[in-house]
Amino acid sequence: MRLTLLVNDERHELEIAHTARLADVLRDELGLVGTKIGCGEGACGACAVLVDGRAVNSCLLLAAAAEGHSVTTIEGISRDGLTPLQQAFIAEDALQCGYCTAGQVVAATALLAVNPSPTVEDVRAGMVGNLCRCGAYPGIERAILRLGQVAPA
Ligand code: FES
Ligand code: FES
Repeated sequence: MRLTLLVNDERHELEIAHTARLADVLRDELGLVGTKIGCGEGACGACAVLVDGRAVNSCLLLAAAAEGHSVTTIEGISRDGLTPLQQAFIAEDALQCGYCTAGQVVAATALLAVNPSPTVEDVRAGMVGNLCRCGAYPGIERAILRLGQVAPA
């Protein structure tokens, strides 16, 4: 099938299988390999991207369902360089192997967009869908809370 995807503010005309997942199209057709595939079944959050500003697991979403929506990957989030949130991840030692990090940043970006000053409980609830096999959770929490403290009220 043919479809048009708006990804990181760029329009892409694609010809793909109607069963293609958004995660695979982003990685294999568009070369946006910052989006990772971990579990492939919606359980880990490694594949999170923003769809109209909301974090979505792209391994569960058909690419066809993303047509007409605005998709933002980690490459789009950091197109102007590392964001303050990404800098906070580094400062707070919020990653080890880094495999989950793009998904974590995507999910945290969506969280902070709706709740700029989250509590620890808000962060834990908002990030519950993002697993980290390296156990970097304390650093991830600190990074998001650090942003919350500097975000405008
Ligand atoms: S790869 Fe999509 S949720 Fe794990
Ligand atoms: S930093 Fe390795 S899985 Fe999270």
